[in-house]
Amino acid sequence: MTERSGDNPLVIRKLEFLGGMAAAGGWRPESTLPEIAFAGRSNVGKSSLLNRLVGRKKLARVSKTPGRTREINFFRVNDQFVLADLPGYGYAKVSKTQKAEWRPLLEGYIARTPQLAGVVQLLDMRREPSEDDAALLDLLAEQGMPTIVVLTKADKLSRKAAAERADSIARSLLLDPTQTIPFSSVTGEGRDDLAAAIVSAVTGVAT
Ligand code: GTP
Ligand code: MG
Repeated sequence: MTERSGDNPLVIRKLEFLGGMAAAGGWRPESTLPEIAFAGRSNVGKSSLLNRLVGRKKLARVSKTPGRTREINFFRVNDQFVLADLPGYGYAKVSKTQKAEWRPLLEGYIARTPQLAGVVQLLDMRREPSEDDAALLDLLAEQGMPTIVVLTKADKLSRKAAAERADSIARSLLLDPTQTIPFSSVTGEGRDDLAAAIVSAVTGVAT
């Protein structure tokens, strides 16, 4: 069972790095625990969000060079569920081969992860969603995959601007704005809401 402590919906008691999956069809850790994957374009803040979520500064590698995370990295939390940090897509400066790699890697990953309980799709609050963002959301919807949409880097905007961006992004992607979670890995805004959404996704599969 997940422990609650005060208002924290997810207390981290144990955290283990399980390894990385480099290519579609390549090695991945054996696991039957429910899994949650984190997807989004390069530099959107996936690794930073994971670190903030679990309260570790250096669990996932954060980089000033976009496109840094090239593998799917797996972390087991509290012997209860697994988090998968997916490589970012859509960074203009990576090679064509690298660009083309994300989709089969992701599709292969989804196909061979029946225990996947949900995907957290990250969107940079300040930017218009890209074609890749929309394509991934469509892919997840087609597969009936529970999807949590997180709007990152909320600290870079005023409250008012953030609320306007959240509405505009939700409208362009045909999402309900109340289904999106504004998030900042700098201030911790949104951390508990996201943790609660993840706990409910993983316990839904476990029961
Ligand atoms: P790739 O692994 O390259 O796909 O990137 P990523 O999505 O894992 O992004 P990462 O966490 O490495 O962050 C990219 C840059 O954005 C870094 O310079 C972070 O410090 C910065 N960043 C991430 N999240 C936030 C945030 O919430 N607020 C602010 N101000 N900066 C952030
Ligand atoms: Mg990363």
